[in-house]
Amino acid sequence: MELGTVAKSRPLNENTMIIFKLPSQLATYLDNARSKGQTIGFVPTMGALHLGHISLVEASLQNTSITVCSIFINPTQFNDPGDFQKYPVTLEKDIELLESAGTHILFLPSVADIYPNGTGNLPHYDLGELENILEGKYRPDHFQGVCQVMHRLLGMVNAHHLYMGRKDYQQCMVVAKLIRITGMDILLHTCATLREARGLAMSSRNMRLNDEQREKAAIIYETLTRIKKDIKAGSVTGIRENALEMLEKEQLRVDYVEISDSATLEIIHHWDGSRPLTALIAAFSGEVRLIDNMEVSG
Ligand code: PAJ
Repeated sequence: MELGTVAKSRPLNENTMIIFKLPSQLATYLDNARSKGQTIGFVPTMGALHLGHISLVEASLQNTSITVCSIFINPTQFNDPGDFQKYPVTLEKDIELLESAGTHILFLPSVADIYPNGTGNLPHYDLGELENILEGKYRPDHFQGVCQVMHRLLGMVNAHHLYMGRKDYQQCMVVAKLIRITGMDILLHTCATLREARGLAMSSRNMRLNDEQREKAAIIYETLTRIKKDIKAGSVTGIRENALEMLEKEQLRVDYVEISDSATLEIIHHWDGSRPLTALIAAFSGEVRLIDNMEVSG
């Protein structure tokens, strides 16, 4: 696709979203904007967009001159090949959603541009304990894949501000660490989780749930809310056990329910009553793996 391919669904005017597929053409456009003093906000996604993604776009639109959203289903972050194959693709609808939100640029890179030398010999990032716990424990190499793609995307977009969702809390911490390790000059904004009416966190994976599973999955939010209500200084073992029971009662297959230090994600068993805590859950409804978290300490 040529430079500045314009999304078809709207007449060409100053609000029209521009779609770039080639990193070099995106870079030329953004270099020019940067040289005029414009600030750039970046919202990386894997598509199958919902209002949670759009809330990140809106945060960027409020704070920056140019908002760039990317859609790239990154093969290296899927530890389960079935999950990669079943990842929903809804590009036309995504383009419409992004355009009506007022996104300036959509970046659609190819696998060959992100991984020109293939995916066999990619860099390894030292993420410390962060990649051995919670998601890292259940999805080996997932966060290496996230770092590999984010390092490439952040290099290509070279934005001033990065907008990511608290729904993937551990991912935000991993990306914050990547930014520190690489010394990239970008400010990460962690944005609130958007939820469906009964509290289920919006997710591209929710479209794979049937109506009954969707109803039952609301227990994840109810469980987090319950932990927040019950938490008190001392042992958290009983609270964790109750939470597990609530989830299993609704036929969810739980990978983990943990209470962690919000700053480090270190899993805690005993709370001193003051350090900020986040509860995190990962559970399967049928074949669909759902994650969510909530600050529970205050
Ligand atoms: P994806 O799952 O498409 O999510 C893109 C961004 O949207 C992430 O920052 C995610 O935390 C945020 N998001 C998802 N659901 C949300 C919700 N309900 N409310 C608010 N924000 C939400 O996360 C990824 O893609 C990928 O791992 C990526 C970072 C793009 C790297 O490939």
